[in-house]
Amino acid sequence: MQNIEKFIKGLPKAELHLHLEGSLEPEMMFELAARNNIKIPFKTPDEVRAAYKFSNLQEFLDIYYQGASVLVTEQDFYDLTFAYLTRMKADNCKHIEVFFDPQTHTDRGIGFDVVVGGISRALADGKAKYGITSRLIMCFLRHLPEDAAFKTLEQAKPYLDKIIGVGLDSGEVGHPPSKFARVFAAARELGLKIVAHAGEEGPPEYIYEALDLLHVDRIDHGNRCMEDNALVARIASAGLTLTVCPLSNLALCVVKDLKKHPLREMMAAGLKVTINSDDPAYFGGYLNQNYIETAQALDLSRDEIITCAKNSFLGSFLPDDEIAKHLSDIEVYCFS
Ligand code: ADE
Ligand code: ZN
Repeated sequence: MQNIEKFIKGLPKAELHLHLEGSLEPEMMFELAARNNIKIPFKTPDEVRAAYKFSNLQEFLDIYYQGASVLVTEQDFYDLTFAYLTRMKADNCKHIEVFFDPQTHTDRGIGFDVVVGGISRALADGKAKYGITSRLIMCFLRHLPEDAAFKTLEQAKPYLDKIIGVGLDSGEVGHPPSKFARVFAAARELGLKIVAHAGEEGPPEYIYEALDLLHVDRIDHGNRCMEDNALVARIASAGLTLTVCPLSNLALCVVKDLKKHPLREMMAAGLKVTINSDDPAYFGGYLNQNYIETAQALDLSRDEIITCAKNSFLGSFLPDDEIAKHLSDIEVYCFS
């Protein structure tokens, strides 16, 4: 039997929970700061990495939004996105569904067209050069008011051919999904898919709101559903996918130890779990590293790892025929 690390590296997989701004490596941060003449409060990439010690989500977000300030031109957004695609090629990732936070940029005077232009040009090149397919999801920042989200949805309208769905991110506690019920209803009317971060730090009630008020197609994180058996049963019977991010959960102290991560119990409870990296430049590991460290910490079986990889395609927004092809590629890889 192959060792588990080698097995994971060769396994075809998709990533469904990745913030492009969270893939900004310190080296690129310095390069873009110099290119755009932007001051950052660090002298070296190592100094930046040393600052990445977080005890909760908000401590991370403060540094993360500051880091994003080096992204200015269309080429910056292209370079950021293409670097992530290159990294995903190395992880044998076949499909990505990535988030971006338009408000982080438009609030600094960067045009929506600049952001979406650079990202979508890189995604097209990722398909042409690496064969990696992709979908783009725009997130509303939940610490900002509802009217700011409506304004962002309006700005997105000329670009809806490039955006598959809307999501909800940033500081969760104190900003429940109910705050955004109306703007998500408007997004649904436009035919957009709906996802939301829920139950990362927030309570199970926020997951109920994501289901009942936002009508999510997928739940991002969702860990805290495990505190409510009825909620677990409901998510499982609805067949909703959860985009779980183990190394993120560890870095943000959602779990104290990877060995205590609920992923295995979530699977055992019938939940459709996927493994993802969230903000890999900040949390110390891209997609394969998340699979490998989680598999080692929880002693996942080969079958459990295969299930996570299959779920990553089953939970994607790809058409059925493409999903079927990826599932059959997994079968070929695992059993021939
Ligand atoms: N934005 C980037 N990463 C995030 C996370 N883990 N939770 C909420 N918002 C985020
Ligand atoms: Zn996230």
